[in-house]
Amino acid sequence: MTLHEMLVDEIKDLYHAEKQLTKALPKMAKAANHEDLREAFEMHLEETHEQITRLEEVFEALGEKVKAKPCPGMAGILEEGKDTMEEDAEGAVMDAALIAAAQRAEHYEIGAYGTCVEWARLLGLDEVASLLEATLEEEKAADQKLTALAESEINQAAVAEGQSEDEEEVEDTGRGRSSGRATTVRRQSSTTRPRAKAADRRRR
Ligand SMILES: [Fe+2]
Repeated sequence: MTLHEMLVDEIKDLYHAEKQLTKALPKMAKAANHEDLREAFEMHLEETHEQITRLEEVFEALGEKVKAKPCPGMAGILEEGKDTMEEDAEGAVMDAALIAAAQRAEHYEIGAYGTCVEWARLLGLDEVASLLEATLEEEKAADQKLTALAESEINQAAVAEGQSEDEEEVEDTGRGRSSGRATTVRRQSSTTRPRAKAADRRRR
């Protein structure tokens, strides 16, 4: 097998990887809570459609038929992403996990496209190299955007969500242990009830 043939093989693999991503990204966008993250997934879905067109141009430039070769690497990454979406996590914690899953997919692509750009260049396939490089730059930008979203807001929010959950737990056990506090809670609610009724009467 020549390096040229190996390159064609890698392109077929990437073609399948991108096709799989077009199915996964809408689900990830739907699972995202932060608006910016949802938008990032939606934007990358649009880019992915363009990347598929670009790969079809690569096949043409190589004089090859457009063909996908099953890509178990991306399939595995997306399978893990699917598991993540099924986890019992909410809000920023889910968003942080979605970013982790998406960055695994991006890094896979960055590795594959980076190699293909270099091979195409070495083989004197300039058109192929520049098409692939355009996609490589998009993948890098998408990855950086995810890092920025995680670092600027989402990861911190995920930490804070964990802390507020801890506080709730402490309150719950506190109430259970001290019967005094439980009485206070009951007494408070019995005094608020008549007040609520008075307010109702005032409204009428
Ligand atoms: Fe891609």
